[in-house]
Amino acid sequence: MLGFGTFKIPDDQAAEVVKNAIIGGYRHIDTAAVYRNEIGVGKGIKDSHVAREDIFLTTKCWNDDQGYQSALEAFEKSCQRLQTNYIDLYLIHWPKPLNSSTWKAFEELYQQGRIRAIGVSNFHQHHFEELMKTAIIKPMVNQIEYTPRLTQKPLKTYLESEGVAMESWSPLMRGKISEIELLKNLSAKYGKTVAQIVIRWNIDTDVIVIPKSVTLQRIKENFDIFDFHLSQDDIEAINLLNKNLRTGPDPDNFDF
Ligand SMILES: NC(=O)c1ccc[n+]([C@@H]2O[C@H](COP(=O)([O-])OP(=O)(O)OC[C@H]3O[C@@H](n4cnc5c(N)ncnc54)[C@H](OP(=O)(O)O)[C@@H]3O)[C@@H](O)[C@H]2O)c1
Repeated sequence: MLGFGTFKIPDDQAAEVVKNAIIGGYRHIDTAAVYRNEIGVGKGIKDSHVAREDIFLTTKCWNDDQGYQSALEAFEKSCQRLQTNYIDLYLIHWPKPLNSSTWKAFEELYQQGRIRAIGVSNFHQHHFEELMKTAIIKPMVNQIEYTPRLTQKPLKTYLESEGVAMESWSPLMRGKISEIELLKNLSAKYGKTVAQIVIRWNIDTDVIVIPKSVTLQRIKENFDIFDFHLSQDDIEAINLLNKNLRTGPDPDNFDF
């Protein structure tokens, strides 16, 4: 439920940062081919001396690699860079282009045991439904932007009804959550930082969460959320902060 994000961590820094995160307790690491840090992430996992099978590793197939053969090749290249022969969760990074043959490659790799869970990222409901027209295996995860300013209620309800796990990216709004008054009040009430309140809100709303930090103290802080829960009233109050405001691009409008 709590993973470690690695977007924008440079490859030459990733090994040290990922190793620190694993030593700090994280067992779930999120990267992507397009982050260009898979070599560093793989080295960090090795350097941590935690067994590969105790790590849950996610990476993603980039848009240029969509298509049956190219997705298979991209998967092998990611495995090589990450120094692993399997991936725990492999995601289609964006639905543009929406390509059913990419999913066919994912299904085959899943059936061969090379991927333990297959999923998508940045899929609106209509992207999901379109993929399902030709899919044999339903995506198991949708990784989307989810923050107190973008609660994605209709999509969240849809994914719950389909039994698809939801995972949130940019959960800290890349630092901007610290400006929200209610979160500051909850921080004082619970004796936790604003980041910890938001990470807890993700977990308390059944959303897998992958905050990123290169700062050792924040890496630890973001993991120190297992000694409290938010009350139902406070969860509802955070839900009401929604303004349908995106920190990143809208999958429908993002021009690649
Ligand atoms: N599927 C997708 O399309 C997609 C898109 C975006 C992100 N992601 C994934 O989601 C992960 C998280 O998203 P993100 O990296 O965009 O943003 P984020 O986790 O919301 O925010 C990261 C930023 O917040 C700062 N920060 C971290 N912990 C903090 C704390 N306790 N207090 C104050 N500031 C803190 C970090 O600074 P320092 O690093 O300087 O400490 C960094 O600037 C990514 O790393 C990536 O793995 C996926």
